Amino acid sequence: MLSRWIQLSICLLILSACSSLNNQNVDRRSVLQQAVALGGATLLVPPGPALATANISPIATLSDGTKFPLASFGLQIYSDDTAYKLTMTALETGYRNFFASVLAGNQRGFAKAVKDSGIPRKDLFICGSVVSNRASGFANAKRDTTTGWKKNMDAFGVGNIDYLDQIMLDYPGPDCESVLGQWAAFEEMHKQGLTKTLAVSNFNSKQLDCVLEKCSVAPVVNQLPYSVAYHPGNSVEENNKRGVLVQAWAPLGGSLGGKFDSSKKGACAQIGKKYNKSFAQVALRWIVQSGASFNTQSKKVEHFKEDLDIFDFELTPEEMNTLGSLA
Ligand SMILES: NC(=O)c1ccc[n+]([C@@H]2O[C@H](COP(=O)([O-])OP(=O)(O)OC[C@H]3O[C@@H](n4cnc5c(N)ncnc54)[C@H](OP(=O)(O)O)[C@@H]3O)[C@@H](O)[C@H]2O)c1
Repeated sequence: MLSRWIQLSICLLILSACSSLNNQNVDRRSVLQQAVALGGATLLVPPGPALATANISPIATLSDGTKFPLASFGLQIYSDDTAYKLTMTALETGYRNFFASVLAGNQRGFAKAVKDSGIPRKDLFICGSVVSNRASGFANAKRDTTTGWKKNMDAFGVGNIDYLDQIMLDYPGPDCESVLGQWAAFEEMHKQGLTKTLAVSNFNSKQLDCVLEKCSVAPVVNQLPYSVAYHPGNSVEENNKRGVLVQAWAPLGGSLGGKFDSSKKGACAQIGKKYNKSFAQVALRWIVQSGASFNTQSKKVEHFKEDLDIFDFELTPEEMNTLGSLA
């Protein structure tokens, strides 16, 4: 079962780098950039309700051994120009994991920014997405998903991005047979060396099992709505059991409307006072201490920085429980 467990990185290298660099007044951004470049020592963590440790690294090791920065920047921005500018800001701030969803239609703007930034491709983790859930039946789902990943490669090609670190199925098809068609197309993309890993989004346990029972390449990430304000069921545990890391979408409630209301923000902010952290930093820290990763977005530089600066404090079990009961 060990091989099915999520492997979370304990970044001993980074911690020692942090303490020595702090002494030299080097800023957090450069530490995080080093973290991404260095990777880290790995500790196997069994599935459990809370991976409470101050040593949670900015970088997880997925069940197939892939290094995966826990903080990802998403681009739900419907313009290539804005996506270009925000990608540049995210790169400058230290983000190295990007989710460029096909739904936002801005993959070209994102790709151009990656190219112009001059940051080596190998230092980035880039995830694209395919929406093919309307196709019913194995053959139709495979066809539409193949068309979808080819469109991704065309769009990313604008920035000379000729492989992805991950491709994500945005939604499952209507039944298991259709999902298997979607997956067959992804496995073909993987076989061609065009993506290193495969991921899903909005999959429940049954849909995950449909894939896991037949696949030759397993999904390693499941992007789900997940936050202190919304976390139905035991999604993190159920995914971890299957070797799948949850990546929270709407980690600050953004795409989920009013669920993350002012009283929940207030409760997070209250706990944050003790650590000199904002409500958002406490909410994101709760996610990583729960055993998940997150995909957030912002248009403000100070928020970009805040959302990465969550790896130097630890919520107590009582605080985890208080936050967990807000939903
Ligand atoms: N797979 C799916 O089905 C699915 C569905 C929906 C969304 N997504 C993805 O999820 C990602 C995140 O989307 P989301 O909008 O729901 O994310 P979110 O992070 O929950 O919400 C973003 C909002 O939070 C604010 N924010 C960010 N950092 C902050 C901070 N430090 N302090 C205060 N406010 C802060 C931003 O405002 P400012 O601009 O003012 O910072 C923005 O309005 C996107 O990439 C999207 O593509 C996926």
